[in-house]
Amino acid sequence: MAFNLKGRSLLTLKDFSKEEIRFLLDVSHQVKRERKAGSYHLRFKGKTLALLFEKRSTRTRCAFETAFGEEGGYPVFLSGDDIQLGAKETIEDTARVLGRMFDAIQFRGFKHKSVEKLAEYSGVPVYNGLTDMYHPTQILADLMTVEEEFGSFKGIKVAFVGDGRNNVANSLLIGCSKMGIDFSITAPKDLFPQKELVNLCREYASGAGSDIEITDDTDRGVKGAHAVYTDVWISMGEEEKQKERYDLLKPYQVNNELMEKTGRRNTIFMHCLPAVKGNEVSFDVIEGKASRVWDEAENRKHTIKAIMLSTI
Ligand code: CP
Ligand code: NVA
Repeated sequence: MAFNLKGRSLLTLKDFSKEEIRFLLDVSHQVKRERKAGSYHLRFKGKTLALLFEKRSTRTRCAFETAFGEEGGYPVFLSGDDIQLGAKETIEDTARVLGRMFDAIQFRGFKHKSVEKLAEYSGVPVYNGLTDMYHPTQILADLMTVEEEFGSFKGIKVAFVGDGRNNVANSLLIGCSKMGIDFSITAPKDLFPQKELVNLCREYASGAGSDIEITDDTDRGVKGAHAVYTDVWISMGEEEKQKERYDLLKPYQVNNELMEKTGRRNTIFMHCLPAVKGNEVSFDVIEGKASRVWDEAENRKHTIKAIMLSTI
């Protein structure tokens, strides 16, 4: 079924229904097939996209920039060193100016409030390319990767292990619970996700027929998992927490021993990247045959193109 998502922003997957996420994934698979078949279009011809980055990026920036440009659009990269973004000019005013010049805006930065303000004041679709709280475009690529591997979400379990309260864990919790994927977070208790978010996602999961588990026990968390997922122990902007995080998260490294605890032979390994090999994941696992991290990275581009095609 086709949905009309024109004009919509993507700030978190909470704002999208299961059916709308399904639609975005269908478009993602379609644009990936087109690209593999060498079929080119100019669906963003005459359109402009502002790419605002307070934090660094490889995948997100390149996915937005290439997906938009190869369809004939004109992406403009603007870092915090280039424009006034909360310094000298308010985000509200920046949003109103950019909204007059661009057809859509991508924001990556610190405060989630900033991306909300951009969406409120710009009048054009705004995409959250990562904030301290959420990373929704990443999760669309992860869902696509799981679907490519297993053909469906039914009966599938994804286990996140590591910093259970970071942007990727939060957004996976939302995405998996909405789509009816069994989902667990295994983390030290100090790094559990916020209770309100867990409760909300338990409601999504019960509506979609799946389970959510939050535990500090790796045996329990990864048992039966079809995919084990981890992310860095220290997210951008949290560098001062390095020592504390290493101490807390050392027992939660994804290595062969942990992968075996799933009790399955065909469990895949996922990571949003960039990875710190030897910290959150062992070299063997990320470089081994279970790893799907490069497919996941490629799928950022297809899913991001699908979001922009659907909303611009
Ligand atoms: N996964 C991800 O968002 O990668 P970048 O930080 O390189 O954009
Ligand atoms: N949690 C990581 C994700 C990077 C894509 C960070 O915020 O740095």
